[in-house]
Amino acid sequence: MLEIKGCLLVVLSETILKASIHLKQVKVLNKKMANSTPLFLGFLFCFISSVATYSSNETDLLALLAFKSAILPDNIGSLNSWNQTSNFCTWEGIVCSTQYHDRVAEINLASRGLEGTLSTYIGNLSFLRRISLRNNKFQGVIPQEIGLLGQLEFVDFSGNSFSGELPRNLSKCINLVNLSMTENSFSGMIPPEFGSLYRLEVMNLTNNKFLGTIPPAIGNLTSLTHLSLSSCGLTGQIPESFGQLQSLILLQLTGNGFSGSIPLGLFNISTIQLFEVADNQLEGTIPENIGFTLSNVRGILLAQNKLSGTFPDSLLNSTTLERIGLFSNKLTGRVPTDLGRLSGLWVIALWNNFFEGDISFISSLTNCTRLSVLRINNNLFTGFLPSSIANLSRVIAQIDISHNKIQGNISSDIRNLQDLAWLDLSSNYLEGSIPLGIGNLDKLIYLDLGRNRFTGEIPSSFGNLTLLSHMFLQENRLFGSIPSSLIDCTNLLSLNISHNNLNGSIPQEIMSISSLSVLLDLSHNSLTGSIPFEVGSLRKLTDFDLSDNRLSGTIPASLGSCLSLQGLYLEGNSFEGKIPSELSGLEGLRFLDLSRNNLSGAIPSFLSDLRLEKLNLSFNKLYGQVPISGVFRNNTLVSLNGNKELCGGILELQLPPCPPLNSSKKNKLLQPKFLIPLLVFGIIVLSLSICWIILIFRRKDSFSSSPSFLEHDQVMRFSYSDLLKATGGFDKYNLVGVGRFGSVYKGIIDDSTPLIAVKVFNLSVKGASKSLLSECEVLRNVRHRNLLKLLSICDSLDSQGYPFKALIYDFKANGSLEKWLHDHKEEDGDEELKKLNMIQLLEIAIDVAHALETISIT
Ligand SMILES: *[C@@H]1O[C@H](CO)[C@@H](O)[C@H](O)[C@H]1NC(C)=O
Ligand SMILES: *[C@@H]1O[C@H](CO)[C@@H](O)[C@H](O)[C@H]1NC(C)=O
Ligand SMILES: *[C@@H]1O[C@H](CO)[C@@H](O)[C@H](O)[C@H]1NC(C)=O
Ligand SMILES: *[C@@H]1O[C@H](CO)[C@@H](O)[C@H](O)[C@H]1NC(C)=O
Ligand SMILES: *[C@@H]1O[C@H](CO)[C@@H](O)[C@H](O)[C@H]1NC(C)=O
Ligand SMILES: *[C@@H]1O[C@H](CO)[C@@H](O)[C@H](O)[C@H]1NC(C)=O
Ligand SMILES: *[C@@H]1O[C@H](CO)[C@@H](O)[C@H](O)[C@H]1NC(C)=O
Ligand SMILES: *[C@@H]1O[C@H](CO)[C@@H](O)[C@H](O)[C@H]1NC(C)=O
Ligand SMILES: *[C@@H]1O[C@H](CO)[C@@H](O)[C@H](O)[C@H]1NC(C)=O
Ligand SMILES: *[C@@H]1O[C@H](CO)[C@@H](O)[C@H](O)[C@H]1NC(C)=O
Ligand SMILES: *[C@@H]1O[C@H](CO)[C@@H](O)[C@H](O)[C@H]1NC(C)=O
Repeated sequence: MLEIKGCLLVVLSETILKASIHLKQVKVLNKKMANSTPLFLGFLFCFISSVATYSSNETDLLALLAFKSAILPDNIGSLNSWNQTSNFCTWEGIVCSTQYHDRVAEINLASRGLEGTLSTYIGNLSFLRRISLRNNKFQGVIPQEIGLLGQLEFVDFSGNSFSGELPRNLSKCINLVNLSMTENSFSGMIPPEFGSLYRLEVMNLTNNKFLGTIPPAIGNLTSLTHLSLSSCGLTGQIPESFGQLQSLILLQLTGNGFSGSIPLGLFNISTIQLFEVADNQLEGTIPENIGFTLSNVRGILLAQNKLSGTFPDSLLNSTTLERIGLFSNKLTGRVPTDLGRLSGLWVIALWNNFFEGDISFISSLTNCTRLSVLRINNNLFTGFLPSSIANLSRVIAQIDISHNKIQGNISSDIRNLQDLAWLDLSSNYLEGSIPLGIGNLDKLIYLDLGRNRFTGEIPSSFGNLTLLSHMFLQENRLFGSIPSSLIDCTNLLSLNISHNNLNGSIPQEIMSISSLSVLLDLSHNSLTGSIPFEVGSLRKLTDFDLSDNRLSGTIPASLGSCLSLQGLYLEGNSFEGKIPSELSGLEGLRFLDLSRNNLSGAIPSFLSDLRLEKLNLSFNKLYGQVPISGVFRNNTLVSLNGNKELCGGILELQLPPCPPLNSSKKNKLLQPKFLIPLLVFGIIVLSLSICWIILIFRRKDSFSSSPSFLEHDQVMRFSYSDLLKATGGFDKYNLVGVGRFGSVYKGIIDDSTPLIAVKVFNLSVKGASKSLLSECEVLRNVRHRNLLKLLSICDSLDSQGYPFKALIYDFKANGSLEKWLHDHKEEDGDEELKKLNMIQLLEIAIDVAHALETISIT
């Protein structure tokens, strides 16, 4: 009774308009019943209204609250206004129906930063027509309950992380007009049931991970105007049924795995404006009459498939055509010489095909006043580059005719193409000089004139190309010197002018183009002089090639500042001197070629610490021991031929063994190599004694003249970098021993001075600083034949800015004291000789006593 009363009330209060809408629905759902008597109709109407009333605005409220509660509290963002202090119709993103007051008709929460799942309660918003959750972070599956929304017309869930299958029950929302689910993670099949959404006009599912083929039923969606299924992971054939989509305006099937041929029916849809099926495995030919059937087409993108056949001449009748993308197929034949009849063209992309014939069709393109992109590279075009190339549209931004067989020279009028950003004419047979006017194209970003037959000089006007990031002029016949004006190309990332006849020296200005980060290749020219010191400014440079020139002088130490270098190629010059130790800082270096120079000195051991993948030092004048670790472990990675005085190294290198450093085994104790152990042992005893002596002095007298730390006049001073250099960057090959407070390295300052030993204190060990102090104190005052002479102290900061303390002694080749006092097996078999016997130990003790005696005298 109550329900019927409510029903009657509703009947009275609802408008006629509303009634008619309900009737419509009834008709659709149940045509037979709707044809029955008016009385029955009335009853049905009442029934439906009562259901609507029963699920009243209270239901919507609950649904919205459930919707909110499925969103992560931290990302609830703009849903703060969703609280019960106000009517939900006023909540952010909610629009209520004008016909049914207080019922939710629209949810628009695009780009609100929401994260969470979609509540199943969404299915209770019975009057919902539009919902957009675009660009949020919703995840999980879309609940099947969405199929309950019979009034739904517009769904946009694009740009979320929804996964799982598309909800099949969505097919029950037969009022759906727009379905946009791009950029999610949907998987599974596209439900064939969607074939019943006969009102659907827009279906956009681009960028998902569906499986399988497109259900042929989609071809039944004859209302579709926009069908976008690009990058959806779909395979199989494009259904023949798509030929029925006679309302299509936009067709996008790019970037799937479609195979077979394109259904001919698709080419028959005259309404299509954008036809994109690029990047699939499609075969077959392009129908010859395409230009007649696709009479409204503005863009054709069939690129990156396996299409064969020729360019359809009928396209010239598609006067609406703006974009032709046929690149990366197997198309053959000629391009119509009057292509320019399509005066609306702004993109011509025919690259990577087998098109042939004369390139003169470019002349006709001067009528295309909007032409912006002309890419016909990697074909078989022949003929002379028409001078009318300079009369192409003033808005042309990209010209690429590289990798063809084009002759002739570049018209100097090319300066007219003021919008040109990309000019690639490489790998042709072009000749003559490079027009100065190219320097006027100040929007140029990419310039490749490489692999042609250009002669003359590099125009100094190129310095005006301040936006240029890539300049390739290699493999031509250019001569003259490198213009120093290039310093103004402040955005240059790559510069390749190799394989020309350039001469003169390398302008220091080139080395100041600090933007160079990819490549600087000046190789295979006739450049003379030395590498400018300024080379150190190229801190971002990855590959640096100066090979096969006539450069001389030493390799500048500043090259060690080019910290990004991965490939350094200096071979085939006349560089002399040593391989600078500064290169040890080039930790990213993978390829180093210094072959065919006059480099001398030893192979620096830091080369074995770098993670080199290829090292070529052959044909130099290097001598001495070859390291055995790092890149030197693998003879396939190293070339050392033609250096006559190298020795050692791994066996595979087949070098003679190095002569032993010190062969005499007699009288070891008097040999200098025993002195270091003596010294270290002495230091320990001395330190203790000094403490004791000082204590005594302090007690006796106020021993005030507390000795200052090494006075400047007494010693040579070494900086951190001196020591870094001397020890080859504290190379572990120079490591003599490791003690509790630090490590001892051998090093060399220069050829004229004796070797030094550097004791680097590990300041993170507790007591190391103190140990340093006491060691200094002792050695400062002590002179004894069995104690090493302290040359200097280094107290500064290292390259990372940490405190760095080291002592520098004369070097006496030896091991550590520990090694001598305790049994220590050596590899070369005469371990007995290296073990100290009791008498030797005694002698050490006596020597220490001597040292102590000396101290007390001082
Ligand atoms: C409830 O929403 C109103 C705006 O609609 C807002 O001013 C108020 O602060 C909200 N209350 C709470 C507790 O969030
Ligand atoms: C539901 O509708 C009634 C009557 O129209 C109204 O009084 C009430 O405030 C509504 N409730 C909500 C939550 O909007
Ligand atoms: C709304 O939907 C939920 C879940 O789908 C259901 O549990 C609930 O009973 C429905 N009805 C109302 C009036 O909230
Ligand atoms: C989805 O549709 C199926 C078949 O029509 C139906 O049985 C099921 O109840 C629907 N699920 C929901 C949640 O509406
Ligand atoms: C398309 O619709 C027609 C008629 O409504 C139907 O007979 C046919 O089976 C449908 N095709 C597919 C593939 O579902
Ligand atoms: C294309 O349309 C023409 C005429 O409109 C028709 O004769 C032809 O059969 C159609 N081709 C396909 C493959 O549908
Ligand atoms: C196509 O263009 C050619 C050349 O202009 C013309 O002769 C022909 O009539 C055109 N065909 C159609 C169907 O428009
Ligand atoms: C350019 O168009 C004019 C008329 O619109 C025509 O006379 C001329 O032949 C066309 N030029 C080319 C190269 O197609
Ligand atoms: C380019 O255009 C200029 C004037 O616009 C004209 O004088 C010249 O002949 C044209 N050159 C070519 C090769 O068409
Ligand atoms: C470089 O540009 C300036 C101003 O844009 C111009 O005056 C100068 O002539 C140009 N230099 C060269 C060599 O083209
Ligand atoms: C030496 O290098 C080559 C080439 O990288 C590699 O194939 C080979 O396995 C390496 N040999 C050894 C012993 O590491």
